[in-house]
Amino acid sequence: MALVTWALPLTYLMLFLLRRSPGAGAQGGPDFELQQPQDKVSVAAGETLNLTCTTSGTGPTGPVKWLKGWGDGNETVYDQTGTFPRVTRVVSISNTDFSIHIGDVRPEDAGTYYCVKFIKWVSGVDVFRRGKGTVVSVHAKPTHPVVSGPDNRTGPGQRVPFTCTAGGFFPKEIDVKWFKDKDRISVQPPSITLGQTKSSYDMSSTAVVTLQEDDVRSQLICQVQHSTLTAPLRGMYQLRKALLVSPKVSVIAGVPNPVEVNKTMNFTCYVKGFYPGDVAVTWLENGMEMKVEDTSQPVETPRGLFELRSLVEVQATEEKNGSVFTCRVVHNARDSISGTATLLLYCSGLWLGILLEKGLLGGLLIFLFKRARA
Ligand SMILES: *[C@@H]1O[C@H](CO)[C@@H](O)[C@H](O)[C@H]1NC(C)=O
Ligand SMILES: *[C@@H]1O[C@H](CO)[C@@H](O)[C@H](O)[C@H]1NC(C)=O
Ligand SMILES: *[C@@H]1O[C@H](CO)[C@@H](O)[C@H](O)[C@H]1NC(C)=O
Ligand SMILES: *[C@@H]1O[C@H](CO)[C@@H](O)[C@H](O)[C@H]1NC(C)=O
Ligand SMILES: *[C@@H]1O[C@H](CO)[C@@H](O)[C@H](O)[C@H]1NC(C)=O
Ligand SMILES: *[C@@H]1O[C@H](CO)[C@@H](O)[C@H](O)[C@H]1NC(C)=O
Repeated sequence: MALVTWALPLTYLMLFLLRRSPGAGAQGGPDFELQQPQDKVSVAAGETLNLTCTTSGTGPTGPVKWLKGWGDGNETVYDQTGTFPRVTRVVSISNTDFSIHIGDVRPEDAGTYYCVKFIKWVSGVDVFRRGKGTVVSVHAKPTHPVVSGPDNRTGPGQRVPFTCTAGGFFPKEIDVKWFKDKDRISVQPPSITLGQTKSSYDMSSTAVVTLQEDDVRSQLICQVQHSTLTAPLRGMYQLRKALLVSPKVSVIAGVPNPVEVNKTMNFTCYVKGFYPGDVAVTWLENGMEMKVEDTSQPVETPRGLFELRSLVEVQATEEKNGSVFTCRVVHNARDSISGTATLLLYCSGLWLGILLEKGLLGGLLIFLFKRARA
């Protein structure tokens, strides 16, 4: 027994002298063994990663460390002297159990971990034994999906692309479905790219939607399902944010038309079925801007579109006979839509003309009616 105890330091002294000669470090104590039993470990982001490493037999002087990666770019995850805030030893003081817990695991913690026994020389350390490595994969949930639409609003009938993005997930497999309200929209498979840290994935999915007038109340849903999720995540987009429905503009002259001289005549401008609700209404008399008056606030209709009414009261002086009144509507600070009507003054000839016209029409109707009964 005593012989063995003394023989060991002697062996290391020899190794020290033979330092740098090939294979010297690997020989070491004959009964020393290092076990790293886990081949693969899978852990969810935010949880605790448990890595197991035990040694047996008598080893040389020198630390046991955990390294992530091997060769260039290896990283010391734990050694007995440094401070590693997220790492704790499973058995805090032990010369045989070097298992560790790594708390609050992140996707970038994925990689191959090695438990390594070093041999200490006067001038430094060398690898003495290493475990076979544990491949750690970190399962991470995707971020909440975000749906984005076009920069500018577009009108009904236009095909508009919408994009759904979610990131930071592992593994790569992810399922993306689109819905417009309750209806499934068919899309191309998402594009999946490696994230910045190279340890998780990002995805982007595009759906092309043809906008409709009554999409004011519709929403797009991007539904993401992933192995880490118990219930799918949904990103929403209110289609009204992308929609531009131009108003229909009409001007109706009051009754009677033609009007008697010096009576007042009302022109009403109906601005119907527009979205969004911002419009500016101006009136022009023969192209000259008028001072107005009486424009109602936009009212929301049951379909979600807006409408309003604007009224202009005109005194039908003789000079105004034949004047053209234009209602000009600027919608969404961009598009301009107009409607017009003409002021006509009553005069006997015209009155007669109208009577004549009505009479002829009446006669024709009676004729047709009689013929149908015959
Ligand atoms: C790691 O160990 C801790 C404490 O023993 C335990 O609570 C946790 O569930 C383990 N984690 C895994 C992924 O096995
Ligand atoms: C780890 O990296 C350092 C330099 O980055 C290198 O000197 C050392 O040999 C590497 N260790 C192993 C075990 O690959
Ligand atoms: C959005 O509208 C503005 C102003 O009309 C225009 O300059 C711009 O090019 C439009 N952008 C897109 C992406 O269509
Ligand atoms: C209409 O009013 C104008 C001025 O108010 C007046 O000069 C004119 O005689 C009136 N015409 C008729 C037909 O009443
Ligand atoms: C014109 O409209 C105003 C306000 O609604 C109303 O008081 C007036 O009676 C109308 N005039 C005619 C001729 O319809
Ligand atoms: C008003 O104008 C119409 C056509 O422009 C004309 O037929 C009519 O006689 C005019 N009325 C008066 C009162 O001048």
